[in-house]
Amino acid sequence: MHKKIIITIDGWSSCGKSTLAKQLAKELNYVYIDSGAMYRAITLYFLRNHVDWTKHKAVEEALRKITLDFRYNEHSNQSEMYLNDENVEYVIRDLVVAEKVSDVAAVKEVRQFAVKQQQMMGEKKGIVMDGRDIGTVVFPKAALKIFMTADNAIRVERRFKELYDKNPNVTIDEVKNNLEMRDYIDSHRDISPLRQAEDAIVLDNTNLTMKQQLEIALRWAKEKIG
Ligand code: CDP
Ligand code: CDP
Repeated sequence: MHKKIIITIDGWSSCGKSTLAKQLAKELNYVYIDSGAMYRAITLYFLRNHVDWTKHKAVEEALRKITLDFRYNEHSNQSEMYLNDENVEYVIRDLVVAEKVSDVAAVKEVRQFAVKQQQMMGEKKGIVMDGRDIGTVVFPKAALKIFMTADNAIRVERRFKELYDKNPNVTIDEVKNNLEMRDYIDSHRDISPLRQAEDAIVLDNTNLTMKQQLEIALRWAKEKIG
């Protein structure tokens, strides 16, 4: 029986973190956890309920009314984000949510709320979690930490394709501005900013296919698992 480890994948917006995390989880028979989906679901709740996230009291009250959980969907063969028993997996990917998520994710109470749940999900190990602060704050002792990056233009193109398939009104400029804005806010906020953990390995997938990125990361994982 191999030992189970925690694998963290952090990096810039839309550089392929969740794609790699899902691939690794499938190969290793681990659980994949999309920490960004949690921040997106909280943002969706705040937007729908007109919660002013600049006010600590309003945030605390709203968080008390939020239950987040991931449930496995056998049709899509993946776990999906639920907000208060509603499947929000698809609606949280909208640009409307993406426009505000980095502001919401910079709020201290929001981070405490999400990080606590993420740490509980990792108690049994055997997980791959992607996000911005997973290797630095959520699981600083994780056995394998990957920091992903890819050229800006490639990241914009990839995310644009994804969003355009769902909504042909979306423009490449909107997507570019959103990625740039989120990367800036995520890496400059006071609490848990996006940065590479000292012991993280960099994976630049600008010129890698999904198969190639998996081969590289799987090799790293197997070295750690033994
Ligand atoms: O998939 P994409 O790179 O577009 O973003 P995501 O992983 O869905 O995360 C959405 C947003 O949530 C990020 O831009 C961050 O503002 C925030 N986030 C965070 O602050 N910490 C995390 N561990 C994960 C996401
Ligand atoms: O999770 P994150 O926002 O970092 O990125 P993602 O959602 O995994 O990937 C963004 C888009 O890039 C998806 O449409 C992936 O299919 C695509 N991708 C790619 O074309 N080539 C790769 N080597 C990795 C991801």
